[in-house]
Amino acid sequence: MKGLRILLVDDEPLMQLSMVDALEAVGHDIEAAASGTEGIDAIHQRPFDLVITDLRLPGADGLAVLAAAKERLPHTEVVMITAHGSVETAVGAMKLGALDYITKPFQMDELLLIVERVGSMVTLRRENLDLKAVLEDKFSFGGILGANNQMRAVLEKIKLVAGTDSTTLILGESGTGKELVANAIHQNSPRSQFPLIKVSCAALPESLLEAELFGHEKGAFTGALRQRRGRFELAHRGTLFLDEVGEISPVIQVKLLRVLQERQFERVGGNDTIHVDVRLVCATQKDLRKEVAQGRFREDLFYRLNVVPVVIPPLRQRQEDVMVIAEHVLKSCAGKMNKTLNGFSPAARELFLRYSFPGNVRELENMVERAVALGRDRETIQPQDLCGFQSCPFTGGTPQESCGFCSEGLTGQKREERPLTSLATAREQFEKEYIVGVLERVDGSRTTGAKILGISRKALWEKCKRYGIPSAREEAEDEG
Ligand SMILES: Nc1ncnc2c1ncn2[C@@H]1O[C@H](COP(=O)(O)OP(=O)(O)OP(=O)(O)O)[C@@H](O)[C@H]1O
Ligand SMILES: [Mg+2]
Repeated sequence: MKGLRILLVDDEPLMQLSMVDALEAVGHDIEAAASGTEGIDAIHQRPFDLVITDLRLPGADGLAVLAAAKERLPHTEVVMITAHGSVETAVGAMKLGALDYITKPFQMDELLLIVERVGSMVTLRRENLDLKAVLEDKFSFGGILGANNQMRAVLEKIKLVAGTDSTTLILGESGTGKELVANAIHQNSPRSQFPLIKVSCAALPESLLEAELFGHEKGAFTGALRQRRGRFELAHRGTLFLDEVGEISPVIQVKLLRVLQERQFERVGGNDTIHVDVRLVCATQKDLRKEVAQGRFREDLFYRLNVVPVVIPPLRQRQEDVMVIAEHVLKSCAGKMNKTLNGFSPAARELFLRYSFPGNVRELENMVERAVALGRDRETIQPQDLCGFQSCPFTGGTPQESCGFCSEGLTGQKREERPLTSLATAREQFEKEYIVGVLERVDGSRTTGAKILGISRKALWEKCKRYGIPSAREEAEDEG
């Protein structure tokens, strides 16, 4: 919680002094007034997050201070201090908009607790205001949201580089938005009227990738029945996005270097030299410098690709962006799914702040989308909606090691530390747990469960039988 701006109105100097001391000691910014009139003056001059006022004051009383605060600063919270006998008046004050009251004599801790509560409300409200600014496009570019300082610098850089023809290298962990950045660069460039062609360099073996990039002549290799243009040609006058460029083999590295140097190449099996006008944008999760140091990536090619590096920080290093993106995804998913959800519960926000998002924005997006689809609360997303498993201990339930929250949050066991199994076993394990989670959410209804899972009831029945998943409503439904 950041420090609050607090106005303290009390006519007893000793009392006031000890409150000022206690509140300043925990980092709040205090202005003291010795009468109601003085307090009201202050309210007219400056904004406060919180006004703490004695009820009985010389001149204007606490109720007048309350009224002034509510009229002038609707977001300011007011806490009343009352003597033992006037609790009823204090309750009346709450009806007029005071947040709380505290009865004299009180322990400073009591006061600090109330102030802390106001603090969390104010922080939430400030966050929401920030969010609004972001969602109103102040901190976004080409669909990329970013309130974090580093991210805003990235957005600025993208805006600048979009207008140029410079080869751009986007670096970042999986799910940080590399492809989104590549799209934004192309769409905001003078080339946007021409194609943006994407190639995933990791998806193809060397010989196929070569033909994919540069095309081939008829008969160039077995199966090359016709001449085919490559991606470089297709991207003429536009942009070529080479995803996972860190994966390309030495042979292709040489060819790529030549295109970058000479802007020309030959199709596989051909002699004609082809000239293209292509802007190159590349991305990789790898540390290319390290690849160069270890001799796996050509240094000359690295420098050619790294003309403008754009480094996207992992989501765990930009906490400010988590809620911004989460709210954005919530809004768009709720709209699509016709739900009235309007935010995250404080506990759900808290969970986000503690989580490290190894899968970055993609993981966050999936989590929120699932919560919107399967969440039970109609108004806000609750912690238990964020985990696919209702028994997740992190979001509320009995221990289980299946989601990021469970394995990272409570048991302290990171994903990387789980026992290593074959992909098939891991897939089965996940499938079983996921089905259990979905069935729990739909009260065991296999009809609804199957719909959500996108498989037939029969297929679901078979899977349940195979994994030994019981279902409470199975018989009733089977009869129906
Ligand atoms: N800053 C952001 N604002 C809004 N959405 C984002 C942001 N960053 C990423 N996303 C979304 O997160 C998802 C993953 O992004 P993207 O596919 O661009 O990541 P990537 O870095 O290419 O991942 P990978 O390395 O796994 O291919 C996409 O749906 C994208 O729209
Ligand atoms: Mg990608």
